[in-house]
Amino acid sequence: MQLTTPRTFLSAATIVFMFSGLGPAFALRAAARQAPDDAATTAARVKRGGYLVGAMGCNDCHTPWKLGPKGPEPDMTRALMGHPADFAVTPPPKLDGAWAWSGAATNTAFAGPWGVSFTANLTPDMETGLGKWSAETFIAALRTGRHEGKGRPILPPMPYRMIGTLTDDDLRSVFAYLQSLAPIRNRVPAPIDSDEQK
Ligand code: HEC
Repeated sequence: MQLTTPRTFLSAATIVFMFSGLGPAFALRAAARQAPDDAATTAARVKRGGYLVGAMGCNDCHTPWKLGPKGPEPDMTRALMGHPADFAVTPPPKLDGAWAWSGAATNTAFAGPWGVSFTANLTPDMETGLGKWSAETFIAALRTGRHEGKGRPILPPMPYRMIGTLTDDDLRSVFAYLQSLAPIRNRVPAPIDSDEQK
């Protein structure tokens, strides 16, 4: 359904731009979005994306944790490869009313009322990671909370609601950073639904 005709939308937008002085900046950004990124833009995106990934805790869940000299820490030699395929999880502990969910030792598998979820491989491996994804798929997944932006609901504890509040530009940067990583082949298991566990 269209609420306004393109003509009224355009003229309203023009008026806003005339008064805000943002017209030229917006026009430039819109143009940049349509054309493929040049090398300098990609480099800037990768840098910003690395900063966002570091600050937003993607490694907390998408990088398997190990026991380091100072206690548990993400194993950065396996950065962002998701739940390790060779780490078979045993049936989760029985939870009582106060405890609603549990996490595996690697912090990459989580059991709760939704079943068992395993964190995705975010490296650009073609078969087991995000190698075949486009920036549009990535943005759609985080905005809709659906697998690849169109499939089953994305399971907890993936914080898509929070990450999805980033601007398109920032999400593109996060995606550009992830695509710049060395691909790691790691086939993450499919989630186990809560009925299969019983
Ligand atoms: C608290 C843990 C947690 C954090 C933090 C987290 N994720 Fe996730 N993520 C998950 C889990 C669990 C899944 C698997 C969900 C499923 O199978 O439905 C997932 C799945 C994904 C997927 C696949 C979505 C799809 O379409 O199937 C992407 C992409 C993703 N995460 C990106 C990110 C990025 C980028 C960050 C950091 C900005 C991040 N995640 C932070 C837990 C987390």
